[in-house]
Formats: sequence, C-alpha cells, structure tokens
Amino acid sequence: MRDKHDTILIVDLGGGLARVIIHKVRDFNIYSEILTPRRAMEPGSLSGETLKGIVVTGRIDSSACTGEIAECVTPGLWESVFGADLPVFAIGTAAAEMMKAGGAGKDRDLFGVELVSLKKPGEEPVILEPFSIDDHLRPFLFDVCGCSGDWTIEAFLEEAADQVRRQVGDKRVVCALSGGVDSSVVATLVHKAVGDQLTCIFVDHGFMRKDEPRMIREMFAETFGIPLIAVDAADRFIDRVEGVLDPEKKRKIIGEEFIRVFEEEASRFGGEAYLAQGTIYPDIIESGDGGQVVKSHHNVGGLPENLLFEGVVEPLRMLFKEEVRTVGRALGLPASLIERQPFPGPGLAVRCLGGITREKLHVLREADAIFRESIVEHGFADLASQFFAVMTGLQSVGVKDGVRTYDYTIALRAVKTDDFMVARPVEFPWSFLQLVNKRITTEVPHVNRVVYELTGKPPATIEWE
Ligand code: XMP
Repeated sequence: MRDKHDTILIVDLGGGLARVIIHKVRDFNIYSEILTPRRAMEPGSLSGETLKGIVVTGRIDSSACTGEIAECVTPGLWESVFGADLPVFAIGTAAAEMMKAGGAGKDRDLFGVELVSLKKPGEEPVILEPFSIDDHLRPFLFDVCGCSGDWTIEAFLEEAADQVRRQVGDKRVVCALSGGVDSSVVATLVHKAVGDQLTCIFVDHGFMRKDEPRMIREMFAETFGIPLIAVDAADRFIDRVEGVLDPEKKRKIIGEEFIRVFEEEASRFGGEAYLAQGTIYPDIIESGDGGQVVKSHHNVGGLPENLLFEGVVEPLRMLFKEEVRTVGRALGLPASLIERQPFPGPGLAVRCLGGITREKLHVLREADAIFRESIVEHGFADLASQFFAVMTGLQSVGVKDGVRTYDYTIALRAVKTDDFMVARPVEFPWSFLQLVNKRITTEVPHVNRVVYELTGKPPATIEWE
C-alpha cells in the first residue's frame, strides 16, 4: 500500500496520541503507518518515493504549557527525522523536543503543536483546544505535504485482491474461518481475488453459541458460494477438556486441539497451499518491534507459521478493526456479522466454569440465547458492548412445582466499554431482568437461579475465565 499511495509516517514517542492521529490521517483517505523511534532510525525507514511527510507524536502533557522543554528522550531520532528532508509535524511533547533538537534552525517545513490536557481522576484526558488538531493537520497533509487523498476503500479492495493474486499464483489458499469479523472479511476478500482456489475450514469445537455453526455454514457456503469444509469436532474437544478446571489449561488444550484438527484438514492440500489469516494492524503494532505487548489473548485461530504452508496471506494486516468493518460492508457482508460483538476463540468453554460437561454446555447455550435474544428484542443492544450468559457451575437447592431441585445458577453479564480494557456493567430495567429470569428458569431445564453481575472491569474481567 505504501508503494502505491502518498504516505505519512507517524513516529510514536509513546503516550497513545499516535493512534488518534493515524485515524485522523486515514480519515482523509491518506495512507499512514506508525513507527517506533527505533524503526524510524533504521536506515531507509524514512525514505521512499511515496513518502510525503512525517508526524511525530509525543504525550499530551500539561507541562508543555509552562514553557519547560522536555528532555530529549530519543537521541538520534531527530537527526533521522530531519535527514529525511520532508515536512515534519510534531504533536504534543514532541513539539518541544523538536525545537530542542535543533528544529528551529532548519529552513524546512517544520510544524509543532503542543497539547494541554485536563485530566480529572478516573477520566480520559481531554485536549484543551485553543486550536483543533484537525485545523492544523488538514493543511499540513494537503497543502504542505501535497497528499492527494487517494487511499479509498475501492483502491484498497482492488489492490488487496491484486496483491493476493500475485502472491499465491495458481496455488490453493486455506482459511480458518471462525465466524468472527476478521476471518470472515479475509475469506470474502480472498475469495473475491482467487475464487475457488480458496477453501475455508470451519472447525466447530463444540463451544459455539446456539445456531452459530449452522449460520456460518449457510452464510459462507450457500450465500457466498465459498467452498467450505465444516468439521464437527465437538466430541474431540469436549473429551479433552472434560474435568479440566484450570482456565489457562483449558484454553491451552483447546488451542492445541484446534491446530491439530485444522492441520489434519489442511494437510490434504499437501503443503502446497497458502494460509490466509485475519491478522490486523493492532496485532502488528502490539507485537511489533520493541513496542510493549498489550494483548495477552490468543485467538484459537492464531495459527503458527509452519512447514505445512507455502506462506501466509494477510490482506488486512495494515487495517484497524473499524477499517476491517468498512471493508466487510463494501464486500456485502451483513450487518449482523460486521457488528458482531467479540467472542473468545475458545468460545463457551471459558464461560462454563467448574469442569465442562455436555449438559452444562447445553444449559449455557440455551440460557445465553434467551438473554441475547431478549436484549435485541427489547431494543437494548446499543446499551451494551458485549452481553452473554455464564454457567457458574454452582448447584444449589431450589423448588419447582413443589419438588426440591438441585440445579445450576446462571449469571448474566452485560458491559459497556470503549476499549475492552475498562468496562462497566449495564443498568437494565429491573422488569427486563425479571423477564429474562422468568424465561430462563422456565424454558431451560436444570436452572433454578439467575443472577446479574454488578462488577465492572476492573476488578473483574469481562469473561469469567
Ligand atoms: P477480558 O475477559 O480479559 O476480555 O476482560 C476482554 C475482551 O477480550 C475478549 N476475549 C477474547 N477474544 N480470544 C479473543 O479473540 C480470546 O481468547 C479471548 N478471551 C477474551 C473478551 O470477550 C472481551 O471482549
């Protein structure tokens, strides 16, 4: 992408601003990438015919307004930046750094804005705006750097398909389809590029939600006509995790078994096939060159690169989640899939506590379907970012039709969050919760208690395991 479109590189000095700025730049249909200072200092990093300008982002810092100049924390960086001989826009504490590093004496286009933040305890920092970043960014990008704004969704689709075709030639491509947004968009995009050279493999590990395996088969095989191998491996997985209590062990077993099943299926293609994966840009940034690892979750679909495949096809590797959704919409995927809430790779297995059994899974699946269905029916879906039921594994005494029961407790979880790192519980009307309670305890056998979770993240996590 960088070789085809005007590009702005963002050097991230830490503090989270780079993510804000890259979205703004890309919103102008200008292609942009984030670099760590270390990468930026590597020879050749800040050059290239399409490179039009450099943005350096520091922190939003209230000390910036006192006139104090921050210590230059990245010796050598500014030399590389000035050496690129391109317009530079320094934002936040990077503006003062730039001046200190000698930017004032240069006869080139160097711009800086300092950002002052107001942060109350527990709140996100608010940028105090004597100016808006956008007011500075737009003229910098278009007038100073001369970007044309040609990185459109149409251009992306065409070039991504082209790139896939060139990479795989006439070889087969195999894709692990989970039904999640990323793998669905990859499958559809690759299918558009190479047609029936693509085979999707959907491994049903037995921990999918109600009706999910059927919906995935119908959508991809029937609606989109994408060749799909659906493997019902539920018995294999359940046999392996039955009785395992330790959450990490459970995740590990499921992850390993998933790879085993997938490889068994993929081995039919005899090492000649490419593996298409839904890797997205945050995965690259977060695991990347010296950047801190933020994400500790591993998708079941996170397959190791190994000898089984000719190579890896990752058409979404430079996109953010929202951009993947935009691509999905452009490819005609339905809103129900595009706006799907996150679902952990190990699925219901991490929502079924205290040892998985087929009975507990069945009870959970039914209760979960009722809760989710009711939320949508009552128009509450927008209140929550994620909602589901949990099988607590707890059995307790109850009474039904005058007879003593010893049945399960189901917990209901619904949270609102922007980033899934901090979340608060959703406040549903009491009458709604009562209605869900009534439906679950009457329609789902072996449930005699329903509880609603009040705890946010932190101190809890969103999932229970
Ligand atoms: P926690 O439970 O850590 O979850 O608060 C944060 C978000 O991550 C999702 N999650 C996963 N997503 N694979 C995923 O792709 C996983 O194994 C996994 N485990 C948790 C969780 O649903 C929530 O949205």
